[in-house]
Amino acid sequence: MNQSIRIAPSILAADFSKLGEEVAAVAEMGADLIHLDVMDGHFVPNISFGPDIIASIRKYTDLPFDVHLMIEPVDNYIEAFVAAGSDIITVHAEAGPHIHSTLQKIRALGIKAGVALNPGTPMEALDNLWDLVDLVLVMTVNPGFGGQSFIESQLCKVSALRRKISQLGHSVSLSVDGGINRETANKSVQAGADILVAGSAVFQLKGVTYSEAIEQLRNP
Ligand code: DX5
Ligand code: ZN
Repeated sequence: MNQSIRIAPSILAADFSKLGEEVAAVAEMGADLIHLDVMDGHFVPNISFGPDIIASIRKYTDLPFDVHLMIEPVDNYIEAFVAAGSDIITVHAEAGPHIHSTLQKIRALGIKAGVALNPGTPMEALDNLWDLVDLVLVMTVNPGFGGQSFIESQLCKVSALRRKISQLGHSVSLSVDGGINRETANKSVQAGADILVAGSAVFQLKGVTYSEAIEQLRNP
């Protein structure tokens, strides 16, 4: 059992008419985190949900809420997402206006801070930020939609980030997000990822229970 790998189902692929039950179901069936994709129709070409929805499903599980903000600008919304029950807030390096102060703000509110990198963004975007980063999220698709194909070129970035994190004196989680299935989960773990975000491969596999889907990703 590959217990060091954590699986974060993305509820973007869940049945929105019963989100609370979907969250409770994956929590019961072995998920380690719940990944929540917030989209604003501006930073990304899709709109999903905001803090009120997150607050409404918070009571369905005690698992950490891993909130991925694909919104721009982000600063004015951090307090609301913390109040909604986020345990980790990840913001995009490409969203503005001031990533360093955004991370300071998240940390000051007592939760963990993550930085997401789009496929076209190099890992050097994290230079000068490492002391404020608890999690790096490597986007393995362009953000905005579930169900896209994994971008293989991102594996080099994952490997390079794993080497960098090993050199740091503190722990940083390394997450991959987008197009994760059994095959790409395996490649991502080999490259050094320790959190796998998966929407379609948890919520939309036919004839497979959530439990089986999660374990297939954990032990691909
Ligand atoms: C995409 C989101 C992902 C998405 C992944 O912008 O950040 O979390 O839900 O969906 P799948 O696993 O279907 O690619
Ligand atoms: Zn995401």
